[in-house]
Amino acid sequence: MARLRAAIIGCGWVAESHAEDGYQAIPAQFDLAIACDVDPARAQAFAQRYGIAESCASYDEVLARHDIDVVSICTPPSLHFPMVMAALDAGKHVICEKPFVSSLALADQIIERQKTCTARVMPIFQYRFGTGIKRVKHVIETGLAGRGYVHAIDTFWKRGPDYYKVAWRGKFATELGGVLLTQSIHMHDLMMYLVGPAAAVAGFKATRVNPIEVEDCAVAALKMEDGSLVSLTATLGSQKQITRMRFCFENVTFEIDTGNIADATPGAAGRPGEPDWVMIPKTPEIGAEIQAAMDSVAPYEEARFARQFALFHTALETGGPFPVTLEDARRSLELITAIFHTNETGEAVALPIGPDHPKYHGWVPRR
Ligand SMILES: NC(=O)c1ccc[n+]([C@@H]2O[C@H](COP(=O)([O-])OP(=O)(O)OC[C@H]3O[C@@H](n4cnc5c(N)ncnc54)[C@H](O)[C@@H]3O)[C@@H](O)[C@H]2O)c1
Repeated sequence: MARLRAAIIGCGWVAESHAEDGYQAIPAQFDLAIACDVDPARAQAFAQRYGIAESCASYDEVLARHDIDVVSICTPPSLHFPMVMAALDAGKHVICEKPFVSSLALADQIIERQKTCTARVMPIFQYRFGTGIKRVKHVIETGLAGRGYVHAIDTFWKRGPDYYKVAWRGKFATELGGVLLTQSIHMHDLMMYLVGPAAAVAGFKATRVNPIEVEDCAVAALKMEDGSLVSLTATLGSQKQITRMRFCFENVTFEIDTGNIADATPGAAGRPGEPDWVMIPKTPEIGAEIQAAMDSVAPYEEARFARQFALFHTALETGGPFPVTLEDARRSLELITAIFHTNETGEAVALPIGPDHPKYHGWVPRR
């Protein structure tokens, strides 16, 4: 397939990763042609910084262009749904940031719309694309790990007043939620990517760290479809930033701990997909077998955004599935819906969640 021409919509923090780590890292597949932001000065400065030929302040203008194939939606969460739908109407492929949209109903609307149009949508979960996690997934899929027992996922990050100076953050209307929507969503996706979907969820959330509307602390206990149990903890008030995942299987325990990061800057809490995970086998013999399986997985040449974008390009070329699907994004929103509901009712929530659930149309509290 020819090089695709892409536009970035929303030239803020994550847009830098889409530009530099994504499109521009794989120039044979993509030409990043336009930077678009409602703030024209921001769009222009971004275009200059990354050597992008054009900038503009109107999304409609980008959608009207016949020479643009793909739009990257890097705007605040509340804008994702209308922007994705408008792109599909205009025949543009979409790469959309997390959190995907504000309800399961809207996710299902996009899934339905996708069936009747040629343009396609890929949600972002870039942490999946690292050699470390690829090897662990391979061991689980081959059956070598055995039955899952208990898994623990900790997202202990730090965000303070400076982070909330950006107007859309901290508010339900624009961020849609807090640590569950914006930070731990990545680790929770990785967990489900490795062990499959949840069957039941019980938990609590609270706002204790910052004077904001949305949650900045959460805990949940999950029963997974495969029978294993999972604990999730998430906060934005940890003085040491830690991203820690521990998976206990019958034959092996896998661990990744990107702790030891006293740096409180956003983004400094580690990338759990990339480094080699610690592998603790039940016996040396099983260990040798698992190690051989892990070694048989070739390392990625590029990671995170570049890898996900390269696989997006391949999928468009072959008509195959995207490396992150709409169903994956829906699943991440289903977990959030369940945690908000169990927090409110004090009762465990059974998954999957369909149209008859009281929070199918959204977890955001109604005023
Ligand atoms: N995948 C990741 O690791 C990751 C990391 C950070 C943020 N994100 C997600 O990316 C999204 C953006 O977050 P951010 O931190 O980059 O935000 P940001 O505030 O830094 O940037 C958002 C930009 O969108 C622009 N914008 C707002 N409305 C617009 C419109 N109608 N048309 C064009 N531009 C518009 C704003 O002017 C701003 O420049 C959020 O959904 C966030 O959760 C993902």
